[in-house]
Amino acid sequence: MKVHVSVPATSANLGPGFDALGLAVSLYNEVEVREAAKTTVAVEGEGTGRLPAGDKNVVVRALRLVYDAVGRKADGWTVRCVNRIPPARGLGSSAAAWVGGLVAGNALLGSPLDRARILRLAARAEGHPDNVAAAVYGGLTVAGGEGESVVALSLPVPPSLVWVALIPDVTSSTAEARAVLPPKVPRADAVFNVQRVALLLASLQAGRVDTLAAALDDRLHQPYRRRLFPWMPSVISAARAAGALGCVLSGAGPSILAVAPGVAESEAVASAMEKALSRAGVGGSARVLAVDTQGAAVREQPS
Ligand code: HSE
Repeated sequence: MKVHVSVPATSANLGPGFDALGLAVSLYNEVEVREAAKTTVAVEGEGTGRLPAGDKNVVVRALRLVYDAVGRKADGWTVRCVNRIPPARGLGSSAAAWVGGLVAGNALLGSPLDRARILRLAARAEGHPDNVAAAVYGGLTVAGGEGESVVALSLPVPPSLVWVALIPDVTSSTAEARAVLPPKVPRADAVFNVQRVALLLASLQAGRVDTLAAALDDRLHQPYRRRLFPWMPSVISAARAAGALGCVLSGAGPSILAVAPGVAESEAVASAMEKALSRAGVGGSARVLAVDTQGAAVREQPS
């Protein structure tokens, strides 16, 4: 049997929800896997020629992880990846690889693990739960807990909102973007973020777009990461001036995520963000995206 899994890109944090919120969006990596006498990995699209082709490949590590978790053995797997999520841009390419491998392996084994267990394995492998929760469940996810106690819920997002990801040509390492964060923050900043994340979830639940700009503000990570992405404030200002309701760093960066009230505004926002980035001397392109509401989806095929 061969299984085919599609996994959405994810934008973590959404401003104030550092390491807690994630949004799955309509850009997908595909993973096709079957058991084999030895492991081979073929990659098409993003990362071609740069991703490991053997046991170090994250999809293969995830397959091994799920087989180990249920006490099953395999000599290897034939893996084919079609990658559309650009790597090292803050759009969850690593989460997609972990979740893709875990969901594919689970399906090959007859689906002994439920999504909650897949989430826990993925969160431990990834180190934080926000991207993997959105990749597993789809939608806007709220994740919390450590290790075996990680839990997540997926919430509906007003369907009228349109999301725009500005993807710079430059890459950034999550480890480096976490290393610039201070180990302690002032209580006033913690309170600021608690208020904003609560306001964000309430605004989305009530369909209130007028409170989104205030709700997307953050003091826990974006101010510190600005020195890695000095063009961030001008891109955010340009997006707001072009009609964005709010604009944030996507995950650990460098992508920027804006939310617009409709399709016409989203196109103006995309163009304004591209121009602002280009004025700062950095190339990149913006994509208008919908929310993915399904999360990782598996299809079994006779091989
Ligand atoms: N919440 C994480 C961070 C996401 O901002 O570091 C990284 O993908």
